[in-house]
Amino acid sequence: MKQPPAPAAPEPDSRPSNTTSRQPGRITLRSDLRASIPDGLTALVVTAAVFALLYARIKAKTSSTVTVMPFMADAGGFWMYFLSQAFGWAALLWAWTTVILGLLLSGPRPRRLPLSGQSLERLHRTTSLNTIALIAAHALLFAAELVRHDTSRWYSRLYTAFVEAFVPGGYTSGTGQIAIPVGQAALYLAVPLGLLFYVRHRIGPRTWRVLHRFVIVVYVLSVWHTLLYGTNVWYDGWFRTTVWLLQLPIAALLLIRLLRPARRSERLSRPGAGAGSKSGWTLRLGGRLAAAAVLAGLLAVVISGNDGGRTVPPEDTSSSHHQD
Ligand code: HEM
Repeated sequence: MKQPPAPAAPEPDSRPSNTTSRQPGRITLRSDLRASIPDGLTALVVTAAVFALLYARIKAKTSSTVTVMPFMADAGGFWMYFLSQAFGWAALLWAWTTVILGLLLSGPRPRRLPLSGQSLERLHRTTSLNTIALIAAHALLFAAELVRHDTSRWYSRLYTAFVEAFVPGGYTSGTGQIAIPVGQAALYLAVPLGLLFYVRHRIGPRTWRVLHRFVIVVYVLSVWHTLLYGTNVWYDGWFRTTVWLLQLPIAALLLIRLLRPARRSERLSRPGAGAGSKSGWTLRLGGRLAAAAVLAGLLAVVISGNDGGRTVPPEDTSSSHHQD
């Protein structure tokens, strides 16, 4: 059923550009960090619940992490690694949520949404900040586990762990050669693309808006990293399928957002008509076609079951499978 076009989303960057004034209610990084606390505490509760589940599965020997890396069967010896995994899942869930909220802000807003535009926008900002914090915690705990299991001198341990976790190309074995830099790229792009909002008056609202659009790349990299390297989604199965399925609403909302953008200037009018050049029109059309292709691709993956999962090894040969 066709719906009338939604009113344009309030412009987050239409506030006065006087950066030194202290108006009540002005959005700053500090005020948003304060507002992020309840959301951040929720993320910690979710992380704790996921950690408890992962830990229990390791102890019960039902976790595919142990099938991939049998030396991790001693749950207590690798608790930081499992906590890192838990932070990874919370990060992905928060990234998913904040992308959905962002697409609702910049596309047509459902009429029966229980949140006002302002609350939606605030939630988008706080979940974004918490996503960055969760990714950082995920990577830091991975590095901490590397430090713990290294027997060299303390400065050498710190250096090696830092390089392996945070320097692209520093992790040199197995699937991690690709998967770790993909995760790092997501983290390193998320920080500027998320935080530039707070200096938008300096760089110009238009520059900020154009750059912020690339935040979808952060999300794609995050999902790619997870499906490539997560040992809990290493093998074919319902959990891996669920991660794929969760990408359908994102792709659908992205397509809808491109087809019916809240900003009038982003609509696809005839080439040359109204605002924008012919190349801009071509770019906008290309974006819409690409989003439709991604949605079709995702449907094909989910329906065919060809989702890149490995085949679960037979029980007696599990110890020969390793993840580097
Ligand atoms: C510096 C950046 C990053 C590093 C060093 C890193 C490291 C790792 C490692 C070593 C694993 C494998 C854990 C396993 O055995 O399952 C992993 C998995 C994972 N990562 Fe990352 N990652 C980074 C960025 C990200 C980002 C940006 C996200 C998402 C927002 C993310 C979410 C995940 C998830 C969900 C898993 C699967 C965990 C599991 O299977 O239980 N990571 N990461």
